Amino acid sequence: MNHLTTAVATLLVPPLLALASSARAAEGSTPVAAAKPREVLVLGGTGALGAEIVRRLVARGEHVTVFARPASDRSRLDGLPVSWVVGDLMNPPDIENAFRGRPVDVVITAVRVEDRDIHFYEKFMKPLTAAAHAAGVAQFIHSGAVGAGANAAKFPSLGWEKVPGLLDRFKDQGVGEDILRASGLTYTIIRNSRVWPDGTPATGKAALVEDDSYIGPVARPDLAELTVSCLGNAACYGKTYHVRDDSLTWPPPRN
Ligand SMILES: NC(=O)c1ccc[n+]([C@@H]2O[C@H](COP(=O)([O-])OP(=O)(O)OC[C@H]3O[C@@H](n4cnc5c(N)ncnc54)[C@H](OP(=O)(O)O)[C@@H]3O)[C@@H](O)[C@H]2O)c1
Repeated sequence: MNHLTTAVATLLVPPLLALASSARAAEGSTPVAAAKPREVLVLGGTGALGAEIVRRLVARGEHVTVFARPASDRSRLDGLPVSWVVGDLMNPPDIENAFRGRPVDVVITAVRVEDRDIHFYEKFMKPLTAAAHAAGVAQFIHSGAVGAGANAAKFPSLGWEKVPGLLDRFKDQGVGEDILRASGLTYTIIRNSRVWPDGTPATGKAALVEDDSYIGPVARPDLAELTVSCLGNAACYGKTYHVRDDSLTWPPPRN
């Protein structure tokens, strides 16, 4: 955690904690049925974070379509009533196809680049936001990274420049965010940093903060809960959040 910013972040937390708390209340033991189910397209839904998001969407009664590559391991979503559309985010026609013949109200991204392509987000965000806009998508929630674009300059003491390629990947994350912001879509960006290992249970203590000089840990179930709490929530529109969870240590254990 960047302790220099803790005091500032603390000032910002209370109203946003309310958001997180209401989301946790909604999680509860009984799934809350959506008034009218939304059609939600999830990119990266087969991944560790994405599957946590999909589970919560299904529990709320939303209709979920998962965009997955042909060879994606779908086992994290076994037994869940979701639809599938097959494609690769690196292939723009696949992205266009994801919107063809189906209504999409909300797009959620939870993808992670594996091959260190430093133009990954730039490549898919352009066709994805264009297709979402053309389809009349009402909300786009993007899982981003602390350090994206100009945000990297907020953390001069972390030695990111010594990690080969890291600043280039953050630059790409920033390009992706900027494409989304300029798209005309109603967006929410939730930036995470080092997340606790897959399988870490929810702490129920995470919150969204608007202090973009904050960096700290989070567990994926809490990140998913915060993501879903922004669905149709006007308080999240046009916001770029970082995530804070004081109940977890920093840095997290390695995944
Ligand atoms: N792991 C960490 O410590 C860490 C650190 C920082 C940030 N994050 C962030 O957490 C979020 C998700 O991370 P995660 O660890 O949950 O990721 P993950 O388990 O590796 O899942 C990544 C997802 O992205 C999909 N994906 C990757 N390339 C794709 C492509 N070309 N076309 C379509 N789908 C593609 C994968 O599909 P397949 O099923 O086909 O592979 C998978 O569903 C991201 O925002 C990531 O930046 C994680």
